[in-house]
This record gives sequence, structure tokens and C-alpha cells, in this order.
Amino acid sequence: MVDIKTIVVLGAGLMGNGIAQVAIMAGYNVVMVDVKQEFIDKGMASINKGVNRLEEKGLLTAAEVLGRIKTSLDLASAVKDADMVIEAVVERMDVKKQVCKTTMDNGPSHIIYASNTSTMDITEIGEDCGAPERVSGMHFFNPVPLMRCIEVIRGDKTSDETFQITMDVAKSLPCLRGERYIAPVLKSRPGFIVNRLNAPLGIYGHYIRDLAYEKGIPWEQLDADYAILKAPMLPCVLSDYVGIDTSYYGALYYVEKLSPDFKPGKVITMMFNEKKLGRKTGQGFYDWSEGRPTPDTSIKAGLVDFDIIAAIRMNEGCRLLEEGVVKSYNVIDEANMAGMNTPGPFERGKDRYKELIKKLEEFVALTGKTYLTPCEMFKTGKFLEMA
Ligand code: CAA
Ligand code: NAD
Repeated sequence: MVDIKTIVVLGAGLMGNGIAQVAIMAGYNVVMVDVKQEFIDKGMASINKGVNRLEEKGLLTAAEVLGRIKTSLDLASAVKDADMVIEAVVERMDVKKQVCKTTMDNGPSHIIYASNTSTMDITEIGEDCGAPERVSGMHFFNPVPLMRCIEVIRGDKTSDETFQITMDVAKSLPCLRGERYIAPVLKSRPGFIVNRLNAPLGIYGHYIRDLAYEKGIPWEQLDADYAILKAPMLPCVLSDYVGIDTSYYGALYYVEKLSPDFKPGKVITMMFNEKKLGRKTGQGFYDWSEGRPTPDTSIKAGLVDFDIIAAIRMNEGCRLLEEGVVKSYNVIDEANMAGMNTPGPFERGKDRYKELIKKLEEFVALTGKTYLTPCEMFKTGKFLEMA
């Protein structure tokens, strides 16, 4: 088995710099690669800030940990002495395929390429690189140092050794908020576990946001509808935090792979075109120039139906079971808690699933969004045997 010592983290953005930080904290030598020095500088500033904060708390010695990271603008030379690449570049298949091939063309014959794609097929990313058996997925959650979950994904051609090494590296990366939860993803299907579970909420979200926009309802009132859930971030804050571009590209991918019903709504498309991408550009649904926004939730829009949300998530969770992505609905609930700090749908919803099915059928009839039609596993209640 390959002993992983040096990791190239490709992309110094939101995810890349978080991955690089936990990798140097774990003791790996890291080369962080991006296409422009300004992106590297921004990523390094974030890593320095995080590591120095931990030194202030007496948890590590900053100079020692930071001594393990170098940077580069040239992937081909950076991979020459590397054992693994963890890729966190923009969510586009053409770019991911290209950097995967550059890795395999220039890296040593044992190098492993793990993509942090949010949605895309690991098999397809590796198909033209010449060594698909050394390609896997390693899907982190934002912010990487604080969110416990990492999904490790097996493409159709991923070798057992590559999968095992990816699992071992994932387990070795520290998390600042409790123990890592590593979720093995048995089949590479769009969105893997947590993102796929929540993806069709996008269909509902586009519908509700476009409705709020048409009615001139401010985003904070729409977010106020969700305050009752006591989730760590309200939905429009979270969309900004993740990045409107990531959600937009994700939705297009789901259109291509799952259903036209995922088509990005008017609001998201407008924001994407105007480059109001959220935290990374300083403006999204909210203004981020003064840091994370704290919307006033005293007035509610009254548009959101939580039973529909629960039903949509349970239905999608059942699809994950049907497709063989996971074998147990408990894994889905646990991965969601570790990846988003919010409960999954099954524990709360399983005892009243028949009522939820009825609600979902009514919503499909109202909107024509047939992707949301309850699947067999949900309708028949067979999921109850897959705890
Ligand atoms: N290094 C070191 N310390 C860090 C750090 C870093 N990089 N980042 C934060 N910290 C420290 C902070 O300084 C703070 O320390 P103190 O308590 O000593 O001040 C501590 O960690 C907590 O930080 P915050 O105050 O920022 O944390 P919070 O309590 O406000 O919680 C949160 C932040 C965990 C992100 C919480 O808001 C949350 O769970 N939000 C939901 C996030 C979520 O859902 N993420 C998943 C998005 S989906 C995804 O990622 C998948 C995809 O493919 C799109
Ligand atoms: P980002 O825009 O913050 O960072 C991407 C970085 O990749 C940029 O700095 C960009 O310059 C760089 N890049 C682009 N092409 C490159 C290339 N050819 N070589 C080297 N660097 C290149 O994006 P992000 O939010 O960090 O997302 C990165 C990946 O992680 C995407 O696949 C995204 O879907 C996934 N992801 C994002 C989140 C999230 O919450 N933002 C969570 C999980 C996974």
C-alpha cells in the first residue's frame, strides 16, 4: 500500500485552503496549487489565520505546521514528487478531467487523484486520464476544519487499494468540532449522499425564492420562515456561504443527469449572471462586506411548508437506497448531521411517512415537478427494513 507523505491540494479557494490546513495539521507535506498568485495569497492568508488561532489556544506550534506547506502555480511540476492530489477547483467537468489527466501524465506511477467535487461522477472525471483505478472522490463540507463529514467515493474503476488509501487519508485529517465521520459512498451517483439528499430541496427552493421575488418579499423574511428549525445557518445565508456559482453549476449538473426539474430558478440565474456569488464576492442574497450577516427574523414570509421539505428529503433518501449508494438510512441521517449540523429526514419522518407522501403528491400536482413523485421505496415503506 502506498504511504502518503506529500499531497498536492489543487485550488486555493474556499475548500482548497481548508483542505490544505487540515492536511498540514495531520502532518502531511502539502503543495497548494492555483492558477494565479493572488488566489494563492488569499488561501495562504486564511490558513495562516486558522493555524495562528490554534497556536493561541495552545493546540499546535504554528511555525512547525506552516513549515509543511509550499505553493505553486504549476500543477505538472508540483505533482512530480507527490503521492496524492486532492482537487478542489471550480465545479466543471471539463476542468476536472483536464487537471486529472495532467496529474496522471506528470505524477509518479502510484499517485492518487481524489476529487472534492460536490456533485460530479468520479468515473467520468477519471475516464480519460490513463489511470482510472487511481481516481476516487473525497467530498468535504464547508468549512473543512469545522465540519465532521467526509464522503469517500468509489468510481466504477477505482481500485480497492485507492479506495482504502482515500479512506485512510480522510480518517487521518483532524476536525476542530468533534470526531471525523467518514461516509463510504458505494456508488458514484450525482451529489453522493448529503448533497443528493438535499438537491431536490433546490427545486422547492427555486420555486419559493422566485415566488418571494415576484411578491417583493425580502430574503430575510423568507429566511425567517426557517428560523423555527434552529439550523446553524438560515438557507439564504447558507447559499451565500457555499457560493451561488457552486449551487448553480450543481443544478445544471442535476439537470443533465437527473431531471430538467432541477433547472436553476430565475433568482439564482440572475445572481449568477450578475456575479453576486455570496461570501466569496461580498454580495449574494446578503451583504458580506462586514462578515457573516445576521438577518432579522422577526417578520415571516409565511411561504414555506415544512412537511413538503421533509417529504422531499425522505423521498430522495429512499432513492439513494434504491440506487445502492448507501445500504442504510441511518448512514444518510448521520452523514447529514456530520456534514451540515442538521438532522437527516428519517428519524423524525419515518413514523408519518404516509402523510408525507400525500403532501408530496399534492405538491407535484400543483407544480408539475414530476421528479418529486414518490419513488417505490418510499411509497411501499420498504425503506423501513433498511435501518
Ligand atoms: N482554523 C482554526 N480555527 C477556526 C477556523 C480555522 N480554519 N475556522 C473557525 N475557527 C474557530 C473560530 O475561531 C471559533 O473559535 P472560538 O470559538 O474560540 O472563537 C470556532 O472555530 C468556531 O467558529 P465560528 O464561530 O465561525 O463557528 P460557529 O459556531 O459560528 O459555527 C459553523 C460555524 C460550524 C460553520 C456553523 O455555522 C454551521 O454548522 N453552519 C452550517 C454549515 C454547513 O451546512 N456546511 C455545509 C455546506 S454544504 C457543503 O459544504 C457541501 C457542498 O458540496 C456544497
Ligand atoms: P472557489 O471558487 O472558492 O475555489 C476554486 C479555486 O480553484 C479558485 O481559486 C480557482 O482559481 C482555482 N482553479 C480553477 N481552475 C484551476 C486549475 N485549472 N488549476 C488550479 N486551480 C484552479 O471554489 P470552492 O468553493 O472552493 O469549490 C471548489 C470545489 O469544491 C468545487 O468542485 C465545489 O463544487 C467543491 N465543493 C464546494 C463546497 C462549498 O461549500 N463551496 C463544498 C464542498 C465541495
